[in-house]
Amino acid sequence: MENTTLLFNDEIEKIIDAMDLSQEAPVEEPQRQYWFMKKARQLVKEQSEKLGRPLTANITTFGCQMNARDSEKLVGILERMGYVEVSDENADFVIYNTCTVRENANLRVYGRLGYLHSLKKKNPHMMIGLCGCMMQEPQVVEKLKKSYSFVNLIFGTHNIYKFAELVVSSLLSNRMIIDIWKDTDKIVEDLPVERKYPFKSGVNIMFGCNNFCSYCIVPYVRGRERSRNPKDIIREIERLVKDGVVEVMLLGQNVNSYGKNLEEPMTFAQLLTEIEKIEGLKRIRFMTSHPKDLSDELIEVMKNSKKICKHLHLPLQSGSSDILQKMNRRYDKEKYLNLVEKIRTAIPDISLTTDIIVGFPGETEEDFLETVDVVKKVRYDSAFTFIYSKRTGTPAAVMENQIPEDVVKDRFNRLLETVQTIGREMSARDTGKVMEVLVEEQNSQDKHLMTGRLSNNLLVHFEGDTSLIGQLCQVRLDECRGFYYMGTKVG
Ligand code: SAH
Ligand code: SF4
Ligand code: F3S
Repeated sequence: MENTTLLFNDEIEKIIDAMDLSQEAPVEEPQRQYWFMKKARQLVKEQSEKLGRPLTANITTFGCQMNARDSEKLVGILERMGYVEVSDENADFVIYNTCTVRENANLRVYGRLGYLHSLKKKNPHMMIGLCGCMMQEPQVVEKLKKSYSFVNLIFGTHNIYKFAELVVSSLLSNRMIIDIWKDTDKIVEDLPVERKYPFKSGVNIMFGCNNFCSYCIVPYVRGRERSRNPKDIIREIERLVKDGVVEVMLLGQNVNSYGKNLEEPMTFAQLLTEIEKIEGLKRIRFMTSHPKDLSDELIEVMKNSKKICKHLHLPLQSGSSDILQKMNRRYDKEKYLNLVEKIRTAIPDISLTTDIIVGFPGETEEDFLETVDVVKKVRYDSAFTFIYSKRTGTPAAVMENQIPEDVVKDRFNRLLETVQTIGREMSARDTGKVMEVLVEEQNSQDKHLMTGRLSNNLLVHFEGDTSLIGQLCQVRLDECRGFYYMGTKVG
């Protein structure tokens, strides 16, 4: 199986077809999964012949782009197994790819499971699968076992590559199948993926996180940081480009520490330089950048690049040096502002966005005002603002001085007001200019309008037709309406 890394789906199909089900499943990956895909295909076919229609599947993704990419892998496997993807939950196999970064994310899943139960009562053959970050929390699995026994399959973030094998177990059993791993150092390449967009794609460059910010559950549910081999990343992107992709989003919880644990260490800036060379690739994005690891080398590479987009998501979390220390972020207000200054000097037209948490334990009014001060100094194009959510098992959950809800809400509203006022002003700064957009879709409300994305990540609506989807066009930015533009195509 050498030299077969990163195959197209049709090539994977051929390998699956060639699998011999009269033999035992191979031990090595991904061949073992190809065998189970073929096995599942047989079982799915039997059921669909009985029903006289194809079996359908539906995935809902909660959470971040990591999860979105994982869902594309699950859809790739589902389709190889013979399921037809449908857009609603009235399906034979419903999967929730869950998030647990904030309490709200969990509550949404429990709420919707109640609805799924009612659907399952009408269609007893329906299979329900739960995966993703929430499943990595033992207390969640306990609760599901006790009160949601109608769920068929539960697996975690470390073993999604085993999906085909788990589905076969589920199809052959009436019991709840649970397979959760605490952590892994394994990265399985060459699994099928079904992209949501033909022209752009997420690409994992690393998995897990080692930072242990004191409020954050991600390191516990996504495991230790591990980087993918640069050769695998480059080959995957080359393949994607051959398949019509012009924009990639490199994904990692902290892309700036990419490559540190590779056999031959490599920096993120070096990886970007290699990716830049890929012919036919037009745009490169990445997320997320941790301010503590953002190097001068990266700023230099971004400055000189023709393909890296003029956008940097640089999570602040808090503007108070005291709170930042309690958050274990390993930078302070001054260091963050200096970094922004350096970036803006090198790349004046860059757009900066951020994440901010309000109401971290012990946050005083003064601490909060420091955050507002940073927002006013940096002038973000936009910011995701979050109310602090207590995550069991993290150090912050047991810190003293948890902030009362009404105080947090008041601060949150004041921050939002500041962020939005500045965001509107910043977003409008290119009014009248002609800029390049990547056309992404037809506007859902007005069929004459197409929606494109600027390098700085803002959306532009302009008159056009669907033949433009996936193309780069020049558009004049006529009018900024808050956080998007209305424009005219000029070339
Ligand atoms: N790795 C990324 C963040 C991933 S989580 C980074 O370090 O930037 C996305 C965002 O969720 C974080 O930036 C943070 O602002 C927010 N977040 C994480 N844990 C949270 C919590 N317990 N309560 C509220 N917001 C949280
Ligand atoms: Fe969470 Fe911090 Fe890791 Fe981001 S860097 S995922 S906020 S622990
Ligand atoms: Fe949520 Fe997991 Fe992403 S907890 S934010 S889906 S890494």
